Amino acid sequence: MPLVNTKKILEGAYWGKYAVGAFNINNMETIQGITAACSKLRSPAILQVSPGAIKYSGPTYLAKLVEAATLTHPDLPLAFHLDHGVSFDICKDCIDKGFTSVMIDGSDLDYEENIYLTKSVVDYAHARGVTVEGELGRISGMEDKINTTSGDSFYTEPAQTEDFVKRTGVDSLAIAIGTSHGVYKFKNKQELRLRFDILEEIQKKIPGFPIVLHGSSSVNQGVVEDINKFGGKIQYAIGIPENVLNEISKTAVCKINIDSDLRLAITATIRKYLIFDHPTEFDPRGYLGMARKAVEMLVSHKIKKILGSENKI
Ligand code: G3H
Ligand code: 13P
Ligand code: ZN
Repeated sequence: MPLVNTKKILEGAYWGKYAVGAFNINNMETIQGITAACSKLRSPAILQVSPGAIKYSGPTYLAKLVEAATLTHPDLPLAFHLDHGVSFDICKDCIDKGFTSVMIDGSDLDYEENIYLTKSVVDYAHARGVTVEGELGRISGMEDKINTTSGDSFYTEPAQTEDFVKRTGVDSLAIAIGTSHGVYKFKNKQELRLRFDILEEIQKKIPGFPIVLHGSSSVNQGVVEDINKFGGKIQYAIGIPENVLNEISKTAVCKINIDSDLRLAITATIRKYLIFDHPTEFDPRGYLGMARKAVEMLVSHKIKKILGSENKI
């Protein structure tokens, strides 16, 4: 099946009370691992690329790799999404290159500017069958354009959501309830607190509307330990517990963004493979193949234990 936009994927998740994983991709092995898991478990999938991923791999390589995934898994509903587009031009360029969904992240603009920018992207995208994710509030963490700590988060103001959604025409809305990007989401376990009250209020303001949660990696401590055991130095990394995400996946949160957990799984696998198991190995197919398998296992785990999106196609 050709690539799809996120309309039906998110509608299915909303009414079915599950969430669809939006996984960040940068290279072939990651795309293959994610789509193999989704195809085997019959789960829809969103493959998303950040501006950093576009800079690393180039938009044409990414688009062609994603096209190869659709040919390999003809039954799999697959959306190709721009993550954290920061300008009209980036969104337009991605739409023109075949993306089926874009995020316009106007969250660091003031409210009216965010509406103006988001609506201009929506007008261009909808005329071409492309869906748009907007953002209200601010999700902290390390990104291409954002370099903040969790203390700098600005929660989404529920009172603004209905007006924002109506005036921009967006198809989904990313909200800030205390999650952040990267593996250092909280200073310690006591600090781990999400604003479910805000999520609840937003759901009441925009009933029937799909919400997006960024910064949703769980940062498996066993994986971090493996990285450190094989020469890594990652300390005080804390993510969002899996049971919390599983509860969230039953709410109006329909798209759950995961990048850091993929990075950790790939890094742990390659470190162990090269440093411990195969010190004499120098064929990249060995360790990249193992990394691909690790991605597939991780995504299968997420679908079953967190997202609830198994057997939804
Ligand atoms: O939104 C954040 C993603 O983890 C993308 O990260 O900008 O390093 O590709 P990146
Ligand atoms: P994590 O860093 O928690 O994986 O979040 C990724 C993300 O939100 C991408 O937009
Ligand atoms: Zn994000």
